[in-house]
Amino acid sequence: MQFKLEATDLQSNARAGTITTDHGVIETPIFMPVGTVGTVKGVHQRELKEDINPDVILGNTYHLYLRPQMAVLEKAGGLHKFMNWDRNILTDSGGYQVYSLSANRKIKEEGVKFKSHIDGSYHFFTPENVMEIQRTIGADIIMAFDECAPYPCEYNYAKRSMHMTHRWLDRCIKHLEKTPLKYGYDQTFFPIVQGSTYKDLRKQSAEYIASVGAEGNAIGGLSVGEPAEEMYEMTEIVTAILPKEKPRYLMGVGTPINILENIALGIDMFDCVMPTRNGRNGMLFTSEGIINIKNKKWEADLSAIDPMGITWVDTDYNKAYLRHLFTVNEMLGRQIATIHNLGFYLWLVREARKHILTGDFAQWKNGMVKKLDQRL
Ligand code: GUN
Repeated sequence: MQFKLEATDLQSNARAGTITTDHGVIETPIFMPVGTVGTVKGVHQRELKEDINPDVILGNTYHLYLRPQMAVLEKAGGLHKFMNWDRNILTDSGGYQVYSLSANRKIKEEGVKFKSHIDGSYHFFTPENVMEIQRTIGADIIMAFDECAPYPCEYNYAKRSMHMTHRWLDRCIKHLEKTPLKYGYDQTFFPIVQGSTYKDLRKQSAEYIASVGAEGNAIGGLSVGEPAEEMYEMTEIVTAILPKEKPRYLMGVGTPINILENIALGIDMFDCVMPTRNGRNGMLFTSEGIINIKNKKWEADLSAIDPMGITWVDTDYNKAYLRHLFTVNEMLGRQIATIHNLGFYLWLVREARKHILTGDFAQWKNGMVKKLDQRL
């Protein structure tokens, strides 16, 4: 993998760059649509490529390990071939889903024993087997196995958890070195900074993560319920320490405003279920503000979903029709909302990139943040 820094904003720490892997170029800042179980929910590959057009999508180790399981992915020749996606994929390690989804998990130094949220069966994740699983899934960027501490979190728990995440990181790196690539293209490993909302722990974790010299670095444990200001404060501490010449990925973030503010702090990569999950629930992020399309207010409003028309669904369908689809629970409503929201998120990061390259990012961002906050 190669990262090329193309521009840094003069009034903020925003950056524009490119990441090049064996599956192509990723222009940063980037938002990665979430495809948890090998599908960006409700979106055909053709729509994803042609209408939304992301350079990279995300998959989840935890889900793919449970279903369809590794034997099927190995037989298919990896996730790219299985789902027919020839651009980049990043897989999360399960270090978050194990804590958020499974019941009865037990965290020990050796790893995490957990009960599947699907059938109640027991499984054990270790830094070692999670590296092997990610080799089999075959994503271009693979993540360290970490513990995402809850919020709020007592200082002593956060500290112990951070140190264990660092020890797990050492084990991931050691094991990856002896686990061969499976499909003839390269994989890049990203470690994850933890440390909850404690400044000294974040600093210590960022220093440790920077010291292992990986090709890219991630920040975890944020957007877990803390106020946005606290998230920004942690991002700022960490980005001051992580190397400038390597991409920085803020995991699981966030709202359009969170994304713009974190781009300003020097983040290059984002993922979040918000545009897809909230879209399926009728929440639309538009150029005019946030809409809950289920509201009676839209019952007879025949205006375009979003007059800016980023994706074709925005102007081919009107608000009253989309509300009707949600009211009668037709799946097409959820599909339209998902395509719209992903189109909007990708538009937002592409605009951010343009403004970083032309040198007026900070002013543009401040104007956008005011607009994005409006609820219609
Ligand atoms: N996704 C969102 N936050 C996290 C985190 O802290 N760790 C991992 N592995 N994934 C995440």
